Amino acid sequence: MRIIKVSATESTNILAREWYHLNRNTAPVCIHAFEQTLGRGQRGASWISNAGENLTFSVLYPKPKVKIQDQFILSAGIGLAILLGLKELKINNLKLKWPNDIMAANLKIGGILIENILNNGSIGTTIIGIGVNINQISFPGLPKASSLKLVSGRTFEIAHVLDVILKNIERIMQNFSEGNEDDILAKYEEKLFRKNKVSTFQLPDDSFLTGIIKGITSTGLLKVEVEDGIIRIFDLKELKLLF
Ligand code: BTN
Repeated sequence: MRIIKVSATESTNILAREWYHLNRNTAPVCIHAFEQTLGRGQRGASWISNAGENLTFSVLYPKPKVKIQDQFILSAGIGLAILLGLKELKINNLKLKWPNDIMAANLKIGGILIENILNNGSIGTTIIGIGVNINQISFPGLPKASSLKLVSGRTFEIAHVLDVILKNIERIMQNFSEGNEDDILAKYEEKLFRKNKVSTFQLPDDSFLTGIIKGITSTGLLKVEVEDGIIRIFDLKELKLLF
């Protein structure tokens, strides 16, 4: 895959969208930034990443082989691809925190922000934005954040981590097909952070809920056992996993 390196940009997801509008590329392209000045995260959060210490990139991928209603499969597949890449780099205790935080040793080391460019109601091109904390060693005010260096004690070459992750992303993107959704969901559930553990969630009214994470539905809703034998299903707007 072609890799375009930029020294600084607001957000590689924004730059990828501009690239698409200028070039209408039909082949996948990766945009990798040394520094993001306005990085974006899930739920409207910002993604703060020290310049030159971490990996921030977006893959612009035309015509992904997933249906619009299978967006969760796409994000689950990308999460799994990142985990495979990190496993190759000998990072241990990797999990996916619902919906798609990358966890190592129970701490968040990366995240995914997928934004689609629609074409006649289907995903024309997908923008897969990925941030992985690599060599940063302090995260002031973010007690649950970590990096590859902190969890492994090793320093990494950022371009190498990018190559390994990209190879796994290309593989999963080529292998998406009708019929392998169940396989992806099963693999995702195997990696689901705190599965079968009692967890505490914050609800939109700021109250708390305790329950056992049981798995996900095919559309990516979280199944939580809230009382003996009673399972409720939540979407992302309805709850936030605290611990
Ligand atoms: C999350 O909140 O967990 C998702 C974080 C996604 C961050 C990446 S960094 C590269 C790309 N550009 C952005 O502005 N965000 C994504």
